[in-house]
Amino acid sequence: MEQIEWKDDYNIGIPQIDRQHQQLVALINRLARAEDEGGMIAYVFDDLDLYVKEHFRAEEDLLRAFDYADFQAHKIEHRTFEEWLSAVRQSFNLGGSSAHLIAESMNAYLRNWLINHILESDMAYRDTVVGNKK
Ligand SMILES: [Fe+2]
Repeated sequence: MEQIEWKDDYNIGIPQIDRQHQQLVALINRLARAEDEGGMIAYVFDDLDLYVKEHFRAEEDLLRAFDYADFQAHKIEHRTFEEWLSAVRQSFNLGGSSAHLIAESMNAYLRNWLINHILESDMAYRDTVVGNKK
């Protein structure tokens, strides 16, 4: 699978959040390489768990502090991601499908997340949190 290159357009304008989003892209790229090379993906789950804990918490604290109008809907998207992550981890642990297939479907989900959540839902709170400074 092809690698994703971070573009300036992806930045929201909050350094901590942008850094975390870049970490996710790096993780997607590692996963794509593992998939191509048949490497193990177990480590990716720990990185994703950490990402979820640190990043979603940071973002939700921020949105709460700015009294963001779509906070509840945004939180639901995060919870849906967490549920997906725990389901996919469970299926990996059960060993029912091949690591390659799991890596492939995770890759597709995460790429979708980048497009639909980071570039849409996260971008949507930019004006509230960053204002029109850009
Ligand atoms: Fe978010």
